[in-house]
Amino acid sequence: STPSLLILPGDGIGPEVMAEVVKIIDWYGENRGLTFDVTMDLVGGAAYDAHGVPLSDETMAKAQEVDAVLLGAVGGPKYDTLDFSVKPERGLLRLRKEMDLFANLRPAQCFDALADFSSLKKDVVAGLDIMIVRELTSGIYFGEPRGIITENNERVGINTQRYTESEIERVARSSFELAMRRNRKLCSMEKANVMESGILWREVVTEVGKDYPDVALSHMYADAGAMQLCRWPKQFDVIVTDNLFGDLLSDAAAMLTGSLGMLPSASLGAPMANGRPKAMYEPVHGSAPDIAGQGKANPIACILSFAMALRYSFDEGEEATRLEKAIEKVLADGVRTADLLGEEGATPVSTSEMGDKIVAALDAS
Ligand code: NAI
Ligand code: MG
Repeated sequence: STPSLLILPGDGIGPEVMAEVVKIIDWYGENRGLTFDVTMDLVGGAAYDAHGVPLSDETMAKAQEVDAVLLGAVGGPKYDTLDFSVKPERGLLRLRKEMDLFANLRPAQCFDALADFSSLKKDVVAGLDIMIVRELTSGIYFGEPRGIITENNERVGINTQRYTESEIERVARSSFELAMRRNRKLCSMEKANVMESGILWREVVTEVGKDYPDVALSHMYADAGAMQLCRWPKQFDVIVTDNLFGDLLSDAAAMLTGSLGMLPSASLGAPMANGRPKAMYEPVHGSAPDIAGQGKANPIACILSFAMALRYSFDEGEEATRLEKAIEKVLADGVRTADLLGEEGATPVSTSEMGDKIVAALDAS
């Protein structure tokens, strides 16, 4: 049956970058016989304006039944004074929570044409393509007990790192599945030397690994991992780690490659009846109110998020690679949105010109 896609452009530059993704989707339908059953809907401030809530029950129900959700960005100054219960980001949180998206995928991918843009040496990042899987729904950000208490006449701040076996198992399984679609190499990071949750993490990941004999599994302490990530990131392919370490490691890894306008992400949940994981794909960036409405936004992060959907939700790895190569080609030709231009004098292209160039590169592929 035709794969289904729920598109939620959201606010600010969200609709601008999503319009370019729609051009790409149309291209696949017209040229590769790859059609999607697409539903467009509202999220964030746009949904609040229309319905008084940042995500309607109807949209939530639709998100639960489609093969993948593609989201632009939510938020903006117009909504900053709204009550917390209806703030735009609550729409996003509701999607993540009700779809139970426990695995957050953050690739660090460096297009050769942008290798000079990184703060690291060119040979360290050129051609880099790794994936960090961060556990997103448990760990120290959620564990109980938590709070600030008074003890011996002073205040004590408490958070608890807590992982159940099943929480570790499911994120490990998602990571092994990813590794199978990539280069069959997985590195698990924790602090088993000083943390009980780390000991259990290592045990459970090792156990799940027995179901994936083709994946080379390694373990690293997260602090050493942080160092290795900066020293020689190409030694990794897929990294799986907990919520806290993943927060830090994925932000650091993202900056190996440069602009926020280039960074896609995915959040995956449990496999559905058709075997596909519940999934939401979105750029890492927000709604960028400072440039919204000016045609300046870089659509590549959102387009790369769609490429991830092709690869991880729709089993279209070759078509995902085709799209990534088209982007690489356009960048190699020197086409740049403003965020990718360091030097003075060069002329940036607009959001829609960047989309058109990528479509033209697809035509030539
Ligand atoms: P932001 O990511 O929207 O912008 C940070 C800076 O990066 C800005 O200078 C912006 O112009 C630039 N930038 C971001 N994406 C870009 C792109 N595609 N092309 C070119 N430049 C780009 O983060 P900020 O400013 O902290 O937040 C703005 C709004 O977005 C807030 O309302 C915030 O709550 C929301 N937000 C939403 C997220 C989401 O929907 N997942 C994530 C982060 C923030
Ligand atoms: Mg963070």
